[in-house]
Amino acid sequence: MDNRPIAFFDSGIGGSTILKEVIKALPNEKYIYYPDSVNNPYGNKNKEELFTIVDGVVSKLIEYNPKLIVCACNTATAMVLDDIRKKYPDIIFVGTEPAVKVVYDSFRDKNAIILTTKGTGDSEKFGELFNKYKTKNCSLVEAPLLAGLIENEEDAYPYLYQLLKSYTNIDIVVLGCTHFPLVKDELIRVLGPVKFIDGGEGISRRVQFLLEENHLLSSGDSGNLDIIGDEKIKERIKGIVYS
Ligand code: DGL
Repeated sequence: MDNRPIAFFDSGIGGSTILKEVIKALPNEKYIYYPDSVNNPYGNKNKEELFTIVDGVVSKLIEYNPKLIVCACNTATAMVLDDIRKKYPDIIFVGTEPAVKVVYDSFRDKNAIILTTKGTGDSEKFGELFNKYKTKNCSLVEAPLLAGLIENEEDAYPYLYQLLKSYTNIDIVVLGCTHFPLVKDELIRVLGPVKFIDGGEGISRRVQFLLEENHLLSSGDSGNLDIIGDEKIKERIKGIVYS
């Protein structure tokens, strides 16, 4: 039993879409969330810049003595998490990857789009995953401006319309960035009634498995959430997590 917190970070509010699922599965744990909006978007940074940023976030989170850190960001996972794991070998990390394999396993004959940031789409790690599990009717679409629009509460519809208007008869959209579940309505307006796949449930299963396997589950019976940031971002994050 271990009552230390589980820490989460992302380049802003996006990781709340993952945190929401993990809290649902493990309501008795303590959580810390670090929304690094100052450095948003991660997806347009180069690898060296992003390593320095994520290293700074992780060292700040370590001050809270977490038992596990969730990198609730596909971009940071794809670009720098392997190097971060090497720098902090004693920390248990959980990363977030676009659910390309779910399409391969369960929707092989469907028309699918994998929607990512530029950083994720261009990364070697994602390239390997995509080449391995890409199905015949599956396209990668990078949306370099989308995470920033969402973070800044701007209307994403005009951008999504321009980006996706040439795609017709799409059945599945893999939300390959933790910010993107926040614009499902706008995506439906452009693409029609599609099925969305994101990483939330997979991550919560992985966190649960690792806590059980390492005997780290909390012994408490009431969890809590501590958000590092100003009141405005705290309210936005709570609004997503508890919606
Ligand atoms: N939410 C992040 C992701 O999952 C990062 C988006 C960004 O900052 O570019 O990729």
